[in-house]
Amino acid sequence: MTSARITPDLERVGGELETLSSYRDPAVPGWTRRVFSDVDREARLWVASLMAAAGLEVETDAAANVIGRLRGTGDRSGAVVSGSHTDTVEGGGRFDGIIGVLGAIEAVRCLNEAGVRLEHDLIVVDFLGEEPNDFGLSCVGSRAVAGNLGDDHLQLIGPSGRRLGEALAAAGGNPDALARARWEAGQVHCFVELHIEQGPKLEESAVPIGVVTGIVGIDRLLARFARRPDHAGTTPMERRRDALCGAAEAVLAIERLAAGGVTTTGRLETRPGASNVVPAEADLWAEARSDDEEWLRRFGGAIEDAIAAIGDRRGLGSSLRWLSHEEPVLVTDWVAATIDQAASADGITPLYLPSGAGHDAAQMARLGPMGMIFVPSRDGRSHCPEEWTDLDQVGRGIAVLAETIRLADGITG
Ligand code: HGY
Ligand code: MN
Ligand code: MN
Repeated sequence: MTSARITPDLERVGGELETLSSYRDPAVPGWTRRVFSDVDREARLWVASLMAAAGLEVETDAAANVIGRLRGTGDRSGAVVSGSHTDTVEGGGRFDGIIGVLGAIEAVRCLNEAGVRLEHDLIVVDFLGEEPNDFGLSCVGSRAVAGNLGDDHLQLIGPSGRRLGEALAAAGGNPDALARARWEAGQVHCFVELHIEQGPKLEESAVPIGVVTGIVGIDRLLARFARRPDHAGTTPMERRRDALCGAAEAVLAIERLAAGGVTTTGRLETRPGASNVVPAEADLWAEARSDDEEWLRRFGGAIEDAIAAIGDRRGLGSSLRWLSHEEPVLVTDWVAATIDQAASADGITPLYLPSGAGHDAAQMARLGPMGMIFVPSRDGRSHCPEEWTDLDQVGRGIAVLAETIRLADGITG
């Protein structure tokens, strides 16, 4: 190993962040690049070209993940893996996931420029579709790599009646050969993801680097209330069965159950959706997050009871479908210690903090040692157009990532 200094090229990274942000859906406010959209596909082709220009051997796997590999010098088993996602939520920002992909590519260039030759292979991944998609699933690409994307997932139906498997094929994947996208545990020496914090702690503490301790568990659900449409002017109040009023009660019940975790109802749809028709159907999509698996279980039972009780009391049909369950995940001690050592080498005493956001790293933890590096988010904002991290803060994160990769390469697992 060499001790040459690793210095990210901020102008290069800044230019690439800007280029990637130009791949956006102009019909939607913010920096929107939804998975399975044309613009997402185009952006990921551009990412593939960037990987190739950085000297990586690039392939797109059966799950449409863009994967770049730098061969190591030795025959050390398992690769050092880094990456994240480049899709966004609707009305999202320019940093969530994105710095973990562009940052890993920059880390490859920095290591090359510093004359570092790794013994392990180094793999950079732009995972397909980390954000929850129209089929109700998140982390599509990393699930496939971790062996957690099954046929039942591929059969999920989206708003236009299309199945997830079809969307995956249109995005450049091959749902019939999904097993080929799956990695074996021995293929991963460690996985390290650079990401924005998406919360206020680093900024409030004036610390530039966070070492993630764990990633929350997330349960997502779809609840439905339904009865019948009625005339909004002629149906007496006591005779109507208003599905949206049932859903409104459910939203507040979900909020009331938050103590010990966080709960959100992020989407509500009503039919027929006219101001002069009593709503006949209301669907709400909600989620609960906690680092306590037991709390998630209790929330699940409580919200099932609450929705059934609201339906009974209001004379509405009600149903609840669980869309996904992610268990809380702890990071691997030696990977966190290596990130800490890399930050210390840059004169930083990092802050240890849990992640309230979900990440591809939670899927990759199924395959081997995992850790995450956080950089600050201005005002703690994320999943909004204002999401921002200064370029020099991104650069410090990349320097710590590159040094972590170099140190991890020398650790025998
Ligand atoms: O929703 C999340 O936690 C992540 O940002 N995908
Ligand atoms: Mn996100
Ligand atoms: Mn993200």
